[in-house]
Amino acid sequence: MKRIAPSILSADFSKLGEEVREVEACGADLIHCDVMDGHFVPNITIGPMVIKALSKVTKLPLDVHLMIEKPERYIKEFIEAGSNMLTIHVEATTHLQRHIQHIKERGVKAGVSLNPSTPLEALNYILGEADFVLIMTVNPGFGGQKFLRSMLPKIKQLRKMINEKGLSAEIEVDGGIGVENIKDASQAGADIFVAGNAIFGSGDYRKTIKEMRKKIEDS
Ligand code: DX5
Ligand code: ZN
Repeated sequence: MKRIAPSILSADFSKLGEEVREVEACGADLIHCDVMDGHFVPNITIGPMVIKALSKVTKLPLDVHLMIEKPERYIKEFIEAGSNMLTIHVEATTHLQRHIQHIKERGVKAGVSLNPSTPLEALNYILGEADFVLIMTVNPGFGGQKFLRSMLPKIKQLRKMINEKGLSAEIEVDGGIGVENIKDASQAGADIFVAGNAIFGSGDYRKTIKEMRKKIEDS
Protein backbone atom coordinates (compact mmCIF):
# COMPACT_ATOMS: atom_id res chain seq x y z
CA MET A 1 0.00 0.00 0.00
CA LYS A 2 1.30 3.44 -0.93
CA ARG A 3 1.75 5.77 2.02
CA ILE A 4 2.01 9.51 2.67
CA ALA A 5 4.46 10.75 5.29
CA PRO A 6 4.20 14.41 6.35
CA SER A 7 7.62 15.75 7.37
CA ILE A 8 7.47 17.69 10.63
CA LEU A 9 10.39 19.83 9.45
CA SER A 10 7.82 22.27 8.06
CA ALA A 11 5.46 22.04 11.05
CA ASP A 12 5.07 24.78 13.66
CA PHE A 13 7.58 23.63 16.31
CA SER A 14 5.93 25.76 18.98
CA LYS A 15 3.01 23.31 18.88
CA LEU A 16 4.58 20.18 17.48
CA GLY A 17 2.35 17.70 19.32
CA GLU A 18 -0.80 19.39 18.04
CA GLU A 19 0.58 19.49 14.50
CA VAL A 20 1.29 15.75 14.57
CA ARG A 21 -2.17 14.96 15.97
CA GLU A 22 -3.66 17.16 13.28
CA VAL A 23 -1.97 15.42 10.32
CA GLU A 24 -2.87 12.05 11.87
CA ALA A 25 -6.53 13.12 12.02
CA CYS A 26 -6.27 14.40 8.44
CA GLY A 27 -5.20 11.07 6.97
CA ALA A 28 -1.40 10.79 7.21
CA ASP A 29 0.07 7.26 7.19
CA LEU A 30 3.45 7.95 8.82
CA ILE A 31 5.18 10.81 10.60
CA HIS A 32 8.52 11.66 8.97
CA CYS A 33 11.07 13.12 11.41
CA ASP A 34 14.23 14.73 10.03
CA VAL A 35 17.29 14.55 12.28
CA MET A 36 20.15 16.87 11.24
CA ASP A 37 23.50 17.37 12.95
CA GLY A 38 25.08 20.44 11.34
CA HIS A 39 27.84 18.21 9.87
CA PHE A 40 26.32 15.80 7.36
CA VAL A 41 23.96 18.64 6.43
CA PRO A 42 24.30 22.33 7.36
CA ASN A 43 21.15 22.42 9.47
CA ILE A 44 20.51 21.24 13.05
CA THR A 45 17.11 19.92 14.08
CA ILE A 46 15.94 17.41 16.67
CA GLY A 47 17.23 14.46 18.70
CA PRO A 48 15.86 11.36 20.44
CA MET A 49 14.06 13.36 23.15
CA VAL A 50 11.69 14.84 20.60
CA ILE A 51 11.08 11.41 19.02
CA LYS A 52 10.22 10.05 22.45
CA ALA A 53 7.80 12.90 23.09
CA LEU A 54 6.12 12.41 19.71
CA SER A 55 5.73 8.67 20.25
CA LYS A 56 3.33 9.57 23.05
CA VAL A 57 1.08 11.78 20.96
CA THR A 58 0.52 9.61 17.87
CA LYS A 59 -0.33 6.03 16.99
CA LEU A 60 1.24 6.45 13.55
CA PRO A 61 4.66 4.90 12.90
CA LEU A 62 7.54 7.34 13.36
CA ASP A 63 9.72 7.36 10.25
CA VAL A 64 13.04 8.76 11.47
CA HIS A 65 15.49 10.03 8.82
CA LEU A 66 19.00 10.41 10.20
CA MET A 67 20.99 13.02 8.29
CA ILE A 68 23.95 12.76 10.66
CA GLU A 69 27.60 11.69 10.40
CA LYS A 70 28.32 8.25 11.86
CA PRO A 71 24.68 7.49 12.63
CA GLU A 72 25.76 4.28 14.39
CA ARG A 73 26.57 6.42 17.45
CA TYR A 74 22.86 7.11 17.97
CA ILE A 75 20.97 4.13 16.53
CA LYS A 76 20.29 2.62 19.96
CA GLU A 77 18.99 5.90 21.37
CA PHE A 78 16.67 6.55 18.44
CA ILE A 79 15.27 3.04 18.68
CA GLU A 80 14.70 3.34 22.43
CA ALA A 81 13.01 6.68 21.82
CA GLY A 82 10.33 4.94 19.75
CA SER A 83 11.41 5.04 16.09
CA ASN A 84 9.47 2.53 14.00
CA MET A 85 11.45 3.13 10.82
CA LEU A 86 15.05 4.29 10.91
CA THR A 87 17.00 5.49 7.86
CA ILE A 88 20.73 6.02 7.56
CA HIS A 89 22.64 7.49 4.62
CA VAL A 90 25.20 5.42 2.71
CA GLU A 91 27.38 8.56 2.53
CA ALA A 92 27.46 8.96 6.33
CA THR A 93 28.89 5.66 7.50
CA THR A 94 31.60 3.11 6.73
CA HIS A 95 30.04 -0.16 7.93
CA LEU A 96 26.57 0.21 6.48
CA GLN A 97 25.64 -3.48 6.47
CA ARG A 98 26.46 -3.90 10.16
CA HIS A 99 24.25 -0.99 11.14
CA ILE A 100 21.34 -2.07 8.93
CA GLN A 101 21.50 -5.50 10.59
CA HIS A 102 21.56 -3.88 14.01
CA ILE A 103 18.44 -1.82 13.29
CA LYS A 104 16.56 -4.89 12.01
CA GLU A 105 17.61 -7.05 14.95
CA ARG A 106 15.96 -4.50 17.21
CA GLY A 107 12.66 -5.00 15.36
CA VAL A 108 12.74 -1.65 13.58
CA LYS A 109 12.35 -1.21 9.80
CA ALA A 110 15.72 -0.28 8.31
CA GLY A 111 16.08 2.24 5.52
CA VAL A 112 19.09 3.12 3.37
CA SER A 113 19.20 6.60 1.86
CA LEU A 114 21.02 8.00 -1.16
CA ASN A 115 21.76 11.66 -1.83
CA PRO A 116 20.85 12.83 -5.35
CA SER A 117 24.39 12.42 -6.71
CA THR A 118 25.00 8.98 -5.17
CA PRO A 119 24.59 6.23 -7.77
CA LEU A 120 22.29 3.23 -7.27
CA GLU A 121 25.38 0.98 -7.42
CA ALA A 122 25.93 1.92 -3.76
CA LEU A 123 22.98 -0.41 -3.03
CA ASN A 124 24.34 -3.44 -4.88
CA TYR A 125 25.26 -5.49 -1.82
CA ILE A 126 22.73 -4.12 0.65
CA LEU A 127 19.44 -3.98 -1.26
CA GLY A 128 18.42 -7.48 -0.16
CA GLU A 129 18.73 -6.49 3.50
CA ALA A 130 17.08 -3.07 3.46
CA ASP A 131 13.38 -2.82 4.29
CA PHE A 132 13.22 0.34 2.22
CA VAL A 133 15.40 2.74 0.22
CA LEU A 134 14.97 6.49 0.66
CA ILE A 135 15.78 8.33 -2.54
CA MET A 136 16.51 11.99 -1.86
CA THR A 137 14.81 14.12 -4.49
CA VAL A 138 16.51 17.29 -3.16
CA ASN A 139 19.91 17.73 -1.51
CA PRO A 140 19.17 17.09 2.15
CA GLY A 141 19.26 19.82 4.76
CA PHE A 142 16.23 22.01 4.27
CA GLY A 143 12.51 21.84 3.63
CA GLY A 144 10.79 23.64 0.81
CA GLN A 145 13.33 22.94 -1.94
CA LYS A 146 12.49 22.20 -5.57
CA PHE A 147 11.93 18.57 -6.59
CA LEU A 148 14.78 17.30 -8.79
CA ARG A 149 13.07 15.74 -11.80
CA SER A 150 16.38 14.15 -12.75
CA MET A 151 15.68 11.69 -9.89
CA LEU A 152 12.69 10.17 -11.73
CA PRO A 153 14.86 7.85 -13.90
CA LYS A 154 16.76 6.88 -10.74
CA ILE A 155 13.52 5.84 -9.02
CA LYS A 156 12.48 3.90 -12.14
CA GLN A 157 15.81 2.12 -12.31
CA LEU A 158 15.64 1.21 -8.62
CA ARG A 159 12.10 -0.15 -9.03
CA LYS A 160 13.43 -2.31 -11.89
CA MET A 161 16.36 -3.56 -9.78
CA ILE A 162 14.04 -4.49 -6.89
CA ASN A 163 11.53 -6.24 -9.15
CA GLU A 164 14.15 -8.12 -11.16
CA LYS A 165 15.80 -9.42 -8.01
CA GLY A 166 12.41 -10.36 -6.55
CA LEU A 167 13.05 -8.23 -3.45
CA SER A 168 10.49 -6.60 -1.20
CA ALA A 169 12.25 -3.30 -0.40
CA GLU A 170 9.93 -0.31 -0.64
CA ILE A 171 10.97 2.98 -2.23
CA GLU A 172 10.52 6.20 -0.27
CA VAL A 173 10.96 9.60 -1.95
CA ASP A 174 11.84 12.72 0.00
CA GLY A 175 12.16 16.34 -1.05
CA GLY A 176 10.00 18.75 -3.00
CA ILE A 177 7.10 16.31 -3.28
CA GLY A 178 3.66 17.88 -3.72
CA VAL A 179 0.33 17.53 -5.48
CA GLU A 180 1.96 18.60 -8.78
CA ASN A 181 4.60 15.84 -8.95
CA ILE A 182 3.53 13.02 -6.62
CA LYS A 183 1.94 11.16 -9.53
CA ASP A 184 5.22 11.21 -11.47
CA ALA A 185 7.10 9.79 -8.46
CA SER A 186 4.42 7.15 -7.98
CA GLN A 187 4.48 6.13 -11.64
CA ALA A 188 8.26 5.86 -11.45
CA GLY A 189 7.77 3.26 -8.72
CA ALA A 190 7.80 5.01 -5.34
CA ASP A 191 5.73 3.61 -2.44
CA ILE A 192 6.20 6.16 0.36
CA PHE A 193 5.95 9.91 -0.22
CA VAL A 194 7.46 12.39 2.23
CA ALA A 195 6.02 15.89 2.05
CA GLY A 196 6.88 18.75 4.37
CA ASN A 197 6.16 22.11 2.86
CA ALA A 198 3.39 20.82 0.58
CA ILE A 199 1.36 19.66 3.61
CA PHE A 200 2.35 21.89 6.53
CA GLY A 201 2.63 24.92 4.26
CA SER A 202 -0.89 24.39 2.97
CA GLY A 203 -3.86 25.96 4.69
CA ASP A 204 -5.79 22.69 4.72
CA TYR A 205 -3.91 19.51 5.67
CA ARG A 206 -6.88 17.22 5.03
CA LYS A 207 -7.50 18.62 1.54
CA THR A 208 -3.81 18.42 0.57
CA ILE A 209 -3.35 14.85 1.81
CA LYS A 210 -6.57 13.83 0.05
CA GLU A 211 -5.42 15.43 -3.22
CA MET A 212 -2.05 13.72 -2.96
CA ARG A 213 -3.71 10.34 -2.30
CA LYS A 214 -6.00 10.81 -5.27
CA LYS A 215 -2.98 11.44 -7.53
CA ILE A 216 -1.32 8.26 -6.26
CA GLU A 217 -4.49 6.23 -6.80
CA ASP A 218 -4.78 7.56 -10.34
CA SER A 219 -1.18 6.65 -11.13
C1 DX5 B 1 15.20 17.37 3.56
C2 DX5 B 1 14.39 16.45 4.44
C3 DX5 B 1 12.99 16.32 4.02
C4 DX5 B 1 12.22 17.60 4.05
C5 DX5 B 1 11.26 17.56 2.94
O1 DX5 B 1 16.51 17.35 3.94
O2 DX5 B 1 14.95 15.15 4.47
O3 DX5 B 1 12.29 15.30 4.72
O4 DX5 B 1 11.52 17.81 5.25
O5 DX5 B 1 10.61 18.76 2.91
P1 DX5 B 1 9.87 19.28 1.61
O6 DX5 B 1 8.75 18.31 1.35
O7 DX5 B 1 9.39 20.62 2.03
O8 DX5 B 1 10.87 19.30 0.50
ZN1 ZN C 1 13.62 13.50 5.32
